[in-house]
Amino acid sequence: MKRFKIAVIPGDGIGTEVINEGIKVLKKIEELESSISFEFKTFPWGCEYYLKTGKMMDDNGMEILKNFDAIYLGAVGFPGVPDHISLWDLLLKIRKGFDQYINIRPVKLLKGAPCPLKDVKREDIDMLFIRENSEGEYAGAGDWLFKDKPNEVVLQTGVFSRKGTERVIRYAYEIARKEGKTLTSISKANALNYSMVFWDEVFKEVGKEYPDVKTYSYLVDAAAMFMVKDPKRFEVVVTSNLFGDILTDLGAAIAGGMGLAAGANLNPEKKFPSMFEPIHGSAPDIAGKEISNPLASIWSVSQMMDFFGYEDWGKKILDAIEELLIDGKTLTPDLGGIAKTSEIGKAINKILEKK
Ligand code: NAD
Ligand code: IPM
Ligand code: MN
Repeated sequence: MKRFKIAVIPGDGIGTEVINEGIKVLKKIEELESSISFEFKTFPWGCEYYLKTGKMMDDNGMEILKNFDAIYLGAVGFPGVPDHISLWDLLLKIRKGFDQYINIRPVKLLKGAPCPLKDVKREDIDMLFIRENSEGEYAGAGDWLFKDKPNEVVLQTGVFSRKGTERVIRYAYEIARKEGKTLTSISKANALNYSMVFWDEVFKEVGKEYPDVKTYSYLVDAAAMFMVKDPKRFEVVVTSNLFGDILTDLGAAIAGGMGLAAGANLNPEKKFPSMFEPIHGSAPDIAGKEISNPLASIWSVSQMMDFFGYEDWGKKILDAIEELLIDGKTLTPDLGGIAKTSEIGKAINKILEKK
């Protein structure tokens, strides 16, 4: 029997709604698969906690989390607490503190999911974004050089280390090789004349070790355009932290919406726990209404099962999501249905029971 310890951080807004549905699915797996069991511990960290205690997480929070096999997170950030505080003291603190340098975000149009693009075949939208997740534009390096108005000058510096750039690019090459897919690097060396020139160089250098992998390089502006006009160009994609953030929201828009966009923050060496979360935020505009779509959060559970080495369960969950979409009877309003958030986990579990 393999026992996995999972730290649950529902966080803010719809994070607290969608996560319950993913936990229902994990509990169903435990019921159906005799070789797995889960131990859950929920942490109340987030913006409400901050307003009560002045902290987004306990001082020894990272020490506590270290002992878990995975972190399952809802969303962080809510009006009332400045975003740069809530995110840097919880979500980004975990991604960086646990060296979760790989952010895997599938952009795959499942059968039954809506797509706003015309003249695009469903199978043409099947990308795997690998976003650098530990440094780059999110290094947190900068300064408020001059504070006197109107002469204020602020700096926000991107940091691209050899180690940080090479490891994410290498990881992407490995996946492309394993899956027999093309690899596209997205950068912006025409304007970012240090960081992205370096990125492109590393991409080419590492590529010498992977002569079997067919590669492409795009500037990020053109890549955004082609994701909409001709998405089949992209299979495995590797890009920097900020570009990956922006392009995967665009990816969500063409692959069923924010409610279907999952993410895994991996520390591949398993020295620290990895974290699984939908890519969307706390959605203050719909929070508390019980209409948020938890399928992204459930898809992240599929990624968690893959990471634990139970790819069969990862696939079963993804197939169950697709069946639910095709059936179309139990969907949340963003997908044209009338179901409540809390009905979705149960509906997925019903499908899983038959698998
Ligand atoms: P958002 O992703 O929360 O919402 C964008 C839009 O998508 C909204 O209209 C929302 O209703 C919709 N949406 C998102 N998820 C949905 C779902 N599951 N079902 C149905 N509709 C969904 O982005 P935002 O409004 O820019 O950010 C809100 C807050 O969340 C901010 O504080 C932001 O910093 C934070 N945020 C956190 C994360 C995270 O924790 N990983 C990610 C993004 C944003
Ligand atoms: C995401 C989010 C975060 C990011 C924010 C909330 C810091 O947008 O997970 O995509 O930019 O990485
Ligand atoms: Mn984002």
